[in-house]
Amino acid sequence: MKDPIEAIQADALACIAAAADPRALDDARVAVLGKKGTLTEVSAGMRDVPKDDKAAVGALLNTARNAITAALEEKQLALQNIADQQALEGIDLTLPARALPHGSLHPLTLLRHQAISILRRMGFALAEGPEIEDEFHCFDALNTPQDHPARNEKDTFYFASGKLLRTHTSSVQVRTMESQVPPVRIIAPGSAYRRDEIDATHLSVFNQLEGLYIDSDVSLGDLKGTLEYFFHELFGPATEVRFRPHFFPFTEPSFEIDVKLHAKGQAPRWIEVAGCGMVDPAVFDAISASRKDGAYDPNKVTGFAFGMGLDRLAMIRWGIKDIRLLIENDVRFLKQFA
Ligand code: PHE
Repeated sequence: MKDPIEAIQADALACIAAAADPRALDDARVAVLGKKGTLTEVSAGMRDVPKDDKAAVGALLNTARNAITAALEEKQLALQNIADQQALEGIDLTLPARALPHGSLHPLTLLRHQAISILRRMGFALAEGPEIEDEFHCFDALNTPQDHPARNEKDTFYFASGKLLRTHTSSVQVRTMESQVPPVRIIAPGSAYRRDEIDATHLSVFNQLEGLYIDSDVSLGDLKGTLEYFFHELFGPATEVRFRPHFFPFTEPSFEIDVKLHAKGQAPRWIEVAGCGMVDPAVFDAISASRKDGAYDPNKVTGFAFGMGLDRLAMIRWGIKDIRLLIENDVRFLKQFA
């Protein structure tokens, strides 16, 4: 038995050494260790080996099997190394990796940041209030009569509870005066909601930025100077700004602010960007009635307020023709601001 086993071993090791690829190596393995492999068949012959020789033949078989298995493993590793080397050929591992696309800020966010930074430089602090409001903060305290069109169910989203989605950020004026004493100088950016028909210039939710400045001697000159400076910072120092008399229940006198827009290929035109005015004494009366401390006595304080549409400002700033682009999140639009 000794010779055939050694012959099988030598033959198998030679085949393994000669295998040039994983397939040839597997053939060599099956030929010797497979079900009908040469070593398998010799092992089956063990039962015919005389008892006295069994131990010696068994040891011989083991040695052969171990040697062959080790050779197979070694050869498999060697072939894998060669395959790895070949796969890497022609690849420059020192090249920089492919860049991942960067995100960028939404145009409305960019504009809001810029507006806030201009106003903060002038000493305005950020304030906020709830988007689900009550009629007192949205209308009553702002001197808005019961029959004012803004209170109409056709224009305002009401909840069954009687609460509503704020139609403007002016409600934050009231909340601020309830919780702070003058001097007050705040801005409040945030969402406002109206039941508008959706088209290129209207959405049912839009973004406003409210401002309120109250002290003992705030004048209309302060209002004009502050807002003119603001729009010059935002749109450039040559931008023409005009104050057009208007009406708001909570300011007196009231104005709408227009800036002159010079769009390419179009005649220049005035476009409305904000509402503003001197805080109506009736608002101070309403606050005084709920505070009861006289901090907002209309004989002691004056102030101005303003509210602007951030969506509108972004559209002017970048010549965006359709407000819906601001909420559709189409990357072809958004990446222009990256
Ligand atoms: N709240 C007004 C609007 O939404 C804007 C405004 C704010 C006007 C503050 C005057 C003072 O149209």
